[in-house]
Amino acid sequence: MDLKGKSVVVGVCGGIAAYKVVEVVSRLKKLGAEVDVIMTANAQKFVTPLTFRSLSHRPVVTDMFSDPEYWEIKHVSLAQKADLFIIAPATANIIGKLASGIADDMLTATVVATKAPVLVVPAMNHNMYANPVVQRNIRILKDFGYIFMEPDTGRMAEGSSGKGRLPEPSAIVGKACAILKPEQDLEGIRILVTAGPTRESIDPVRYISNHSSGKMGYAVAQAAHERGADVLLVSGPVGIGCPDGVRLISVTTAQEMHEAVNGNFENCDVVIMAAAVADYRPAEVSERKIKKNGDEMVLRLVKNPDILKTLGTIKGNRILVGFSAETDHLEDNAAKKLESKNLDMIVANDVTMEGAGFGTDTNIIKILKRDGTVIDLPLMSKLEAAHRILDEVRDLVAGPAQAGSKERGG
Ligand code: PMT
Repeated sequence: MDLKGKSVVVGVCGGIAAYKVVEVVSRLKKLGAEVDVIMTANAQKFVTPLTFRSLSHRPVVTDMFSDPEYWEIKHVSLAQKADLFIIAPATANIIGKLASGIADDMLTATVVATKAPVLVVPAMNHNMYANPVVQRNIRILKDFGYIFMEPDTGRMAEGSSGKGRLPEPSAIVGKACAILKPEQDLEGIRILVTAGPTRESIDPVRYISNHSSGKMGYAVAQAAHERGADVLLVSGPVGIGCPDGVRLISVTTAQEMHEAVNGNFENCDVVIMAAAVADYRPAEVSERKIKKNGDEMVLRLVKNPDILKTLGTIKGNRILVGFSAETDHLEDNAAKKLESKNLDMIVANDVTMEGAGFGTDTNIIKILKRDGTVIDLPLMSKLEAAHRILDEVRDLVAGPAQAGSKERGG
């Protein structure tokens, strides 16, 4: 999502998760937002203002009284200019203060003065989070329209496990983007996205798979949802959470993905296959763990269904978008797949390039269209790449006349 022209004020409180907010600021900047950071006194014990200043390229507001330039004007001006306020990590202390209307420092004074939506991202010890008084304060703020993200569950800084971890920076930025709502130009369009790898079992403990993390497909699903599409995500096994508002079908094997995609094909307008589907699977799956016998072991593989190729034969008016992961002859190989699978568009990525392909948060893509157009894009975040892909999908759905008039009209 492009956040150019958007102003985001990030309030950082004193918690160990403050270091993760550094990445939130960095990601917001990369998306084009103007980011102002306000730090509480305790936050500065965990991360220095200089870190945020270097990333936001703006002075960091730390104290109401230390610098006369800021106070009086600044807390009002930041409150007014903000399109969105993010408080992260939100401690039990700030949640309590805001629920009671206390405005005794720069952060609370600015939040109380703002009319912008406020996204509160709690992170604290799990017992503190579960404490009824904290939960009551959260309810009070929710009633006033504050937007809350649920903390993640997992291992905490102090060693115990529970619900209280700050969500991943990508999830916080995703939520921020959803609140700042881009143009709903995919409203009414049903998009099926596939993501992640498939796993093909050899025996109960081993499988064949690939390095796909699901990040590219999940970014497409998130971006499509942000733009108003009705999104179904069919995902292989990955370690990332499903974007808010997206329906998820989890699968393991290529055959399961084939069934899930086929079963939902009739009810979609667009299919975008970012999944790295295994082309072959073991001919037999041993019911027991295969023992080590001799120096060699031969696995006989049989072909999996080519999901996208099958869809290409029954596509009707639907738009089919494939991905092409290559290590050489990127454009030629992708063009062949575009043709042989009867696609409308293919997104080619050279997985040997730094910052591209498997596992990274970024990608370098070329978009090849049926009419021969090739759009060559530089390194960008997978979310940005997803939006560029969806710009093309939107034009394909609209058809040549509308796409042409959109280009002419800017
Ligand atoms: O998940 P990440 O870590 O973010 O990595 C992203 C990615 C590299 C996986 C992604 O950008 C990507 O390139 N996905 C497609 C990988 C791939 O399998 O490409 P392919 O050239 O083998 O397949 C071409 C197309 O046919 C793909 O859309 C694929 O989903 C589809 N296919 C492939 C085989 C098969 N049996 N059925 C299919 O439908």
